[in-house]
Amino acid sequence: MEDLSLHILDIAENSITAGADRIKIRIVEDIKKNLLLIEISDNGRGMDSEMLEHASDPFYTTRTTRRVGMGIPLLAQAARESMGDIDIKTEKGKGTTVTATFRYDHIDRKPLGDIAQTMAVLIASNPDIDFIFEHEKNGRTYTLDTSEIKKELDGVPVTTPEVIKIIKDDISTWLNSTGNMIE
Ligand SMILES: Nc1ncnc2c1ncn2[C@@H]1O[C@H](COP(=O)(O)OP(=O)(O)O)[C@@H](O)[C@H]1O
Ligand SMILES: [Mg+2]
Repeated sequence: MEDLSLHILDIAENSITAGADRIKIRIVEDIKKNLLLIEISDNGRGMDSEMLEHASDPFYTTRTTRRVGMGIPLLAQAARESMGDIDIKTEKGKGTTVTATFRYDHIDRKPLGDIAQTMAVLIASNPDIDFIFEHEKNGRTYTLDTSEIKKELDGVPVTTPEVIKIIKDDISTWLNSTGNMIE
């Protein structure tokens, strides 16, 4: 996977599979600390300690469709390649938070990629899940919460192409204002 937005998509898929109906994606770019942090948290079914222990093992998966589960190992590898790491906090029946950190300016740190597109895909394909997207950069924070948007829509489905476009454009406008061009 050449950019981090694809890893985000993959980790959010785990949250969807775990039955979450609320998924938060948080990105922090702290250039002073030379840190990029990506956090995906959900209110899905969580993992017990044995599942958690195995979650980072590429040859373990609870899926029955494919025998190899790579979402977490690949994100961990991407983080470690840039001197970062991965941390998973989970509680059975409550939810899971996956946090990956990266050394911001590391030569092997993958670019963020098209975050607006990733959010648009997640929101458009999972209308019953509420997504929160939060991005912090240079002391400013942007938040998009589809549960708020759904209230404003007054019955218009969030999957309506015009609505998805507005969401995508709003995220893009913000990212452009922080200097995040799609790399
Ligand atoms: N957010 C989550 N909530 C509950 N279980 C999870 C979550 N993320 C990962 N898991 C567990 O960890 C396993 C490994 O995840 P992953 O590396 O993405 O591989 P895969 O999704 O292909 O199985 C999953 O099969 C699942 O059992
Ligand atoms: Mg997965």
